[in-house]
Amino acid sequence: MDKKKFYVSYNSVHKLVKNLSEQLISTGFDPDVIVAIGSGGFIPARIMKTFINRPIYAVGISYYGIDNKHKDHPTKIQWIDEVQSQLEGKKVLLIDEVDDTRATLAYCVGELLKFKPEEIAVLVLHNKQKDKDVEFPIEIKRYFAGLELGNVWIKYPWDAEDIEEHTENERIMLEQTKERT
Ligand code: G4P
Ligand code: MG
Repeated sequence: MDKKKFYVSYNSVHKLVKNLSEQLISTGFDPDVIVAIGSGGFIPARIMKTFINRPIYAVGISYYGIDNKHKDHPTKIQWIDEVQSQLEGKKVLLIDEVDDTRATLAYCVGELLKFKPEEIAVLVLHNKQKDKDVEFPIEIKRYFAGLELGNVWIKYPWDAEDIEEHTENERIMLEQTKERT
């Protein structure tokens, strides 16, 4: 177990998404479609569908191209025509797992705004409270983060090779934080 990492189990992801869906509803935002930023946004978006039952469009935006080489700006590795044609006049819920530098999210927002949606709301499991490389454009009026964190490295369950160990690591981590408080 790495003490500097923040472990997140599947159960925690599920609960965070449920909580986020309730926040969303309480602000009166009723999205027509979900746009999931892959790959980290895929599982949270699918869980969100359980609570709000809206269609999911998947896009792939990454610093890493299909050649797996790191680029100096985010690029599209997957983009489908349906995303574009389905957005005009629609309320879009854009989902990713983490808001880190904000570069990927802001780039994706910029690309989606070209298709004239009525509104885009951004939703992430975790926001890292740090200076962001970019800000969102003024069109973004609603932003939801399941949990605010410092500048830590988050370990998501879908990256775990041993899921039992990963889940146990989260339990120990939460236990230790409780002891400290
Ligand atoms: P942002 O707009 O969401 O802030 O993303 P940013 O471009 O800063 O992030 C670059 C990549 O680093 C993203 O992955 C993001 O998910 C990942 N990342 C940032 N912080 C963490 C963290 O604490 N833990 C983990 N596990 N990943 C983190 P990506 O290139 O989009 O790939 P993918 O994993 O989503 O496929
Ligand atoms: Mg990601």
